[in-house]
Amino acid sequence: MKGLVVVYSRTGRTLAVGEKIAARLGADIERIAEPRERRGIFGFVRSGYEALREKKPPIVEPKRDPSRYDIVIVGTSIWAGRMASPMRSYLSRFAGGFHRAAFFATSSSGRNDAALRGMARVAGVEPITVMELAPRDLKEDVENRIERFIAEVEAESTANRLQDR
Ligand SMILES: Cc1cc2nc3c(=O)[nH]c(=O)nc-3n(C[C@H](O)[C@H](O)[C@H](O)COP(=O)(O)O)c2cc1C
Repeated sequence: MKGLVVVYSRTGRTLAVGEKIAARLGADIERIAEPRERRGIFGFVRSGYEALREKKPPIVEPKRDPSRYDIVIVGTSIWAGRMASPMRSYLSRFAGGFHRAAFFATSSSGRNDAALRGMARVAGVEPITVMELAPRDLKEDVENRIERFIAEVEAESTANRLQDR
């Protein structure tokens, strides 16, 4: 199974989770980059505004093509109850090009189902499974949660391989 982990992370939390997942799966990793920075209070306000209005800001052209992977695991931070705006840019850039996908998010509340549903809609793929982590999960339970998430991804991939025989 060839895997790709794609993350958008402004302050590193989502990236840390994505790196663990990639290491555990032996997957490639792509961090979505932007030509324009988002530091400071103005960056914060602009980010919330863009997410709320479902804007698609410019991103640096990704190095890896997700359609070349069996499974793409997509992680984002949550802004204004939605996926971070650069993730919307990424998913619409490659919409329809994901064979299989799983989504995860980090947020302060840990409960943003609508955001994850939005990712499925924009990417044009129904995720095998989803995981959302709040700060408390990141502190206390991250290894267990990642293991469970990976087990779900692997179980589904095995089922698919058997079906394809
Ligand atoms: C502009 C902005 C808006 C946010 N809005 C939400 C929100 O609506 N709900 C939530 O649970 N967390 C929200 N957060 C918190 C982030 O989702 C959380 O801190 C996340 O773990 C950051 O991930 P990162 O370090 O990968 O960027 C917001 C953060 C920012 C910067």
